[in-house]
Amino acid sequence: MLRWGTAMLVLSLMLFSGTAGAGEIRLPPPVFTGQGSVEEALKARRTVRHFARRSLTQAQVGQLLWATDGVSDPRGFRTAPSAGATFPLELYLVAGERGVEGLPAGVYRYLPGSHALAPVTPGDLRGAVARASLHQGWMAEAPVMVVIAADYRRCTARYGQRGIRYTHMEVGHAGQNLFLQAEALGLGAGIVGAFEDQTLAALLKLPREHEPLIIMPVGYK
Ligand SMILES: Cc1cc2nc3c(=O)[nH]c(=O)nc-3n(C[C@H](O)[C@H](O)[C@H](O)COP(=O)(O)O)c2cc1C
Repeated sequence: MLRWGTAMLVLSLMLFSGTAGAGEIRLPPPVFTGQGSVEEALKARRTVRHFARRSLTQAQVGQLLWATDGVSDPRGFRTAPSAGATFPLELYLVAGERGVEGLPAGVYRYLPGSHALAPVTPGDLRGAVARASLHQGWMAEAPVMVVIAADYRRCTARYGQRGIRYTHMEVGHAGQNLFLQAEALGLGAGIVGAFEDQTLAALLKLPREHEPLIIMPVGYK
């Protein structure tokens, strides 16, 4: 019988051994063992609004994005549950200047299938995102922000109006995944729902159908 660690290594190789497309930035594969327990992460989780000036590594960023809504099963299932496996969520990374070691400041789309980042637009947009979030200046202290957006049509095509409710539930699952993974990595996360939708979507150059729902600044506390 395969031991758990070996099984996870095999799964990792199966899921993340494909090649990234042109222009995509391959992230280090996620790891499936950690220092602390789920209970410790649950106990420690708080909305963090002050961050140290310290860069994250690409491994940390890859782990955070994978935990939020990455692929965890060869059948394509994700770390967050999804009504009817319709997977309406899209993750974007807003990386600040020196926010992530070796990664230029900019906005990147997370590609769960290849566990890679696709550059969307360059530049340090953290200040502009904070201003679009009713001037919550604390957000710009974080080296990165994860924006969870949704393409509602993927879910409403199957469930009609109820798909909107299901999509909002799914964002909650993904957001809590990110909170808990941040804690387990010795980091902290905040969560922001107060922002001007259209201003934010324009700043991040989101496709029209990707509607931003939550912004989560992440970094060292
Ligand atoms: C959907 C949602 C939107 C939120 N929006 C903001 C926000 O815009 N700004 C902020 O500082 N906190 C925001 N929060 C964080 C809450 O203020 C916070 O969760 C609450 O005070 C409880 O604290 P805790 O998360 O540390 O347990 C939001 C939380 C949720 C769930």
